[in-house]
Amino acid sequence: MIYDDQFNPWAHYHHEVEPYIQRAKNQVPEMTCHKQAAEILAPLISPGDTLLDVGCGTGYTYWSFRSRGMEVEYHGLDVTPRFIDLGREHFCPRAGLPPERLRLGAAETVTGQYDVVLCVNTLYCLPNYHQPVERLCAATRKALFIRTLMDERAEYRYLVTDYPGMDPERRHMRAYYNIYPLAEVISAIEGYGFKVRRIKDERTGDQDEFVKGKRYPWRCLLAVRE
Ligand SMILES: C[S@@+](CC[C@H](N)C(=O)[O-])C[C@H]1O[C@@H](n2cnc3c(N)ncnc32)[C@H](O)[C@@H]1O
Repeated sequence: MIYDDQFNPWAHYHHEVEPYIQRAKNQVPEMTCHKQAAEILAPLISPGDTLLDVGCGTGYTYWSFRSRGMEVEYHGLDVTPRFIDLGREHFCPRAGLPPERLRLGAAETVTGQYDVVLCVNTLYCLPNYHQPVERLCAATRKALFIRTLMDERAEYRYLVTDYPGMDPERRHMRAYYNIYPLAEVISAIEGYGFKVRRIKDERTGDQDEFVKGKRYPWRCLLAVRE
């Protein structure tokens, strides 16, 4: 994947920056989905385990693990350079982590192996699930937690973003809001040697969420290597 900020809507969502900084500084309550990910993974994590957070933003999901006393070696990966820069500035020093723990990179090209892999609220904004899911599975030694938009039937949506906080000249940009076919994703993960459990999403109770007329069927999967 050849990265270019020009074609990455996340590089132009200006209204997103302040919350990302506040979260990096651990100054706002944790998100329910991060709390749920940490609680679901807790019984599977041993002290010192490595954890890769794919689509980490500024790295703030780490706080949900740390506040529960889970001593993971946290690594974050995100495709948007300014999130990595903001995380290195605001998150790493507060978390006592070296800046290299946040890295620029794409879900589609993840390499290396980690005990636990997390991919929360990220896959839906990629063009498809096949390659990133393959790479996430290859990178997972013990357990993989995924939260994304999934439903019985796939819906591939590439929509004009038109957010008020976006550069006016970028408002024409489109972004993916894909809904992936749940059974197909589960069977792909099983094919890579995992036992997959569907977990009810705590925030939505697996009910559709609607934001600005868009349907968001959030679903969670826990995959444990067999
Ligand atoms: C909705 S945010 C989710 C951030 C965080 N995981 C959370 O749960 O709050 C989506 C993130 O995915 C990142 N992203 C988008 N495409 C990506 C890709 N191909 N590989 C890795 N990260 C990506 C964006 O830069 C953004 O930080």
